[in-house]
Amino acid sequence: TLQASSLPKLQPKQKPAKQFQPRASTFKVALLGAAGGIGQPLGLLIKMSPLVSNLHLYDIANVKGVTADLSHCNTPSQVHDFTGSSELASCLNGVDVVVIPAGIPRKPGMTRDDLFNINASIVMTLVEAVAIHSPDAFIHIISNPVNSTVPIAAEVLKQKGVYNPKKLFGVTTLDVVRANTFVAQKKNLKLIDVDVPVIGGHAGITILPLLSKMRPSVTFTDLEAQELTARIQNAGTEVVEAKDGSGSATLSMAYAAARFVESSLRALDGDGDVYECSFVQSELTDLPFFASRVKLGKNGVEAFISSDIRGLTEFEVKALDALKPELKASIDKGVSFVQKYA
Ligand code: NAI
Repeated sequence: TLQASSLPKLQPKQKPAKQFQPRASTFKVALLGAAGGIGQPLGLLIKMSPLVSNLHLYDIANVKGVTADLSHCNTPSQVHDFTGSSELASCLNGVDVVVIPAGIPRKPGMTRDDLFNINASIVMTLVEAVAIHSPDAFIHIISNPVNSTVPIAAEVLKQKGVYNPKKLFGVTTLDVVRANTFVAQKKNLKLIDVDVPVIGGHAGITILPLLSKMRPSVTFTDLEAQELTARIQNAGTEVVEAKDGSGSATLSMAYAAARFVESSLRALDGDGDVYECSFVQSELTDLPFFASRVKLGKNGVEAFISSDIRGLTEFEVKALDALKPELKASIDKGVSFVQKYA
């Protein structure tokens, strides 16, 4: 199942939550870039969600076939296809969540920042349309470099006068999924119990897993912490190299993004116990955007889990200091990209 992490430990005084009863099939989700490597398996996983009534698939090409194919799955949601910019407005009308994996992926030797020139324009154009046609939706940005594309989206929404920082998310769930997998393997833990918060950003050293804050509480030697952190930071590159020129992570990414969509829908549906890591506008550090655990509610980000960044190990404190200049530069690059057009 695609379960979000929850933090019952943080609410010791509350009565045990009543069993939450989700309503059936009420939400509309738009997927922009739906015919791509991430888009197709992500579309399939969203099609399986009992909370979705309508799934709108948008791409610049090849989306009719994907839609016909998915529409044969006997799950509740209706799937609709939208091709090209002339159909973008109707794709976005009335949707609750917009998920954006549109853009080009990395090839071996590339950093996520090498994608900036192409993906920055794609995200800017798509978010301009979101600002007009679905300004109240949760917006999930997957297109890389997330450290810049989220600030780009924020600037576009500001220019259109509809920016709600609580509803704009950079999807960093794959970093958590990877951290959980690698830590469970290394320490021989039951995967279902493992939850590692990952903070910072979504590229190289800006990805900072907080092994000292994971559940269950586990002790790591300095070397183990270093090796696990490096593996989590380079996991995307591991996949890019194994795929040898044919793209980056698509299946694990779809799995992670589907978890984030499902968490968002549960929050929209009134579930009061939904926590996820995401790259969002934040006051936890001196950076304007920062990934951390957040509590999700009907209106988006409801609270930041600020205790995560207190009481870090020496290794984590150093890594946090080290990532800030790079993350700041990526954020600034996104902001100035949009301001050039203002
Ligand atoms: P892909 O090339 O297989 O698919 C991208 C899709 O976007 C294509 O179907 C393409 O037609 C479409 N597209 C291009 N321009 C568009 C536009 N203007 N409007 C709508 N659709 C458009 O790429 P893949 O593998 O699906 O990756 C997509 C993005 O996700 C890349 O930027 C990649 O770096 C990023 N990514 C992000 C991760 C994360 O953790 N946030 C992890 C893995 C990838």
